Amino acid sequence: MANVAVIGAQWGDEGKGKIVDWLSERADVVVRFQGGHNAGHTLVVDNTTYKLSLLPSGIVRQGKLSIIGNGVVVDPVAFLSEIDRLRAQGVAIAPDTLRVAENCCLILPLHAELDQARERARGDAKIGTTGRGIGPAYEDKTARRAIRLCDLADPDALARKVDELLLHHNALRRGYGEPELAADQVVAPLMELAPRLLPYAEAVWQRLSELRRQGRRILFEGAQGAMLDIDHGTYPYVTSSNTVAGQAAAGAGIGPSSVGFVLGITKAYTTRVGSGPFPTELHDEIGRGLGERGHEFGTVTGRARRCGWFDAVLVRQAIKVGGIDGLALTKLDVLDGMERLKVCTAYRHHGHTLHHLPAGVTAQAGVTPVYEEMEGWSESTRGARSFADLPAAAVKYVKRLEELVEAPAALLSTSPDRQDTILMRDPFAD
Ligand code: GDP
Ligand code: IMO
Ligand code: MG
Repeated sequence: MANVAVIGAQWGDEGKGKIVDWLSERADVVVRFQGGHNAGHTLVVDNTTYKLSLLPSGIVRQGKLSIIGNGVVVDPVAFLSEIDRLRAQGVAIAPDTLRVAENCCLILPLHAELDQARERARGDAKIGTTGRGIGPAYEDKTARRAIRLCDLADPDALARKVDELLLHHNALRRGYGEPELAADQVVAPLMELAPRLLPYAEAVWQRLSELRRQGRRILFEGAQGAMLDIDHGTYPYVTSSNTVAGQAAAGAGIGPSSVGFVLGITKAYTTRVGSGPFPTELHDEIGRGLGERGHEFGTVTGRARRCGWFDAVLVRQAIKVGGIDGLALTKLDVLDGMERLKVCTAYRHHGHTLHHLPAGVTAQAGVTPVYEEMEGWSESTRGARSFADLPAAAVKYVKRLEELVEAPAALLSTSPDRQDTILMRDPFAD
């Protein structure tokens, strides 16, 4: 029986949350494996909107197990306040249905402060991070000085580790003109939160191994997207983790063969929030129209998302580097009523035609898109729940995208609502 990994195939916000929520009906477990509360995943269920940043999107369904894997960086305050916020919306959350890897690294206030200080220092050259401390937390993880969830159960080790951490961070803080921190300013708040956090902690790799043995269905929920991947994205305008499906195994503590079908999520057009190259970006009325109809404002920061035409070159690249087996194409309805549509099929750069996005930062900023024009449709696709309900031009558009990106569509989404989803091929059946 296949498991499924859901990953973003563009620059994030493709609608992963909605698709994970829809698929979670058929799964037993939903696992986050990278990123942190820089993610913002929106679910709309029976007119109620749930916004999730750190908790897996399966949390809103009763009877499903939610797991935060070791690859996630966890901000304890954000974690507990998200639990409180969802409970206030009527979602039942308890340590027996939400497990967090004991070896996951923590995001501390000093990480968010450093993230923001760096962005201020960069001025116009800023990356446009979410300011949540994601990058600095992963830096500490890689540098082997991070505080992990399991350290909260060992106060002596925690005190030693915080001293080592502050040796590094206070030097940086002096450089950025931030006040230095005393060890107790870090340790005391953590020890205060520990009794609420530790009941969620466990060796999730063991549990996943047991669930595999029982033949349970696992759904891996990615955050961000392939073009924000630390290796494969538009570096340095990326996040600080691997977002591709390969990370699902390492970030959960399970073998790569257990990841199963890789479902890439892509919008029927393109958006990006934050700085960095975006070849098909539109600075005109068409771009503004996509932003308005698609409500393209960031879930986490509220920033307006940049909008542009579908870029088949980028998505094809994401499919190759991410091992994507099939796509979920979302927000088709946002294109309703547009007379003509454009799709980027290649780039021009210094007199050459390119069929991939080059790695260099100057080349990425310098490519110009080659477009293919297609007819739009005047009918509404919003809320369509069957392929047969789609206008002929919309069907043609979907088929052309499948050809250009060299992968089949498994799902289509036609509104934010859970039910407005068209299944073309069951990812769990593969
Ligand atoms: P994620 O980060 O990939 O989970 O995506 P976000 O939740 O940040 O952003 C996607 C936005 O589009 C959310 O507001 C969703 O409710 C909305 N959405 C998802 N699918 C569709 C769709 O098919 N049509 C429309 N109009 N909105 C959608
Ligand atoms: P979901 O899971 C869209 C972007 C930020 C910035 C860059 C680095 O909702 O798709 P970071 O705070 O991670 O160091 O910021 O990555 N970014 C996202 N963009 N969706 C996301 O998550 C994002 N998470 C980070 O805007 O450009
Ligand atoms: Mg999002």
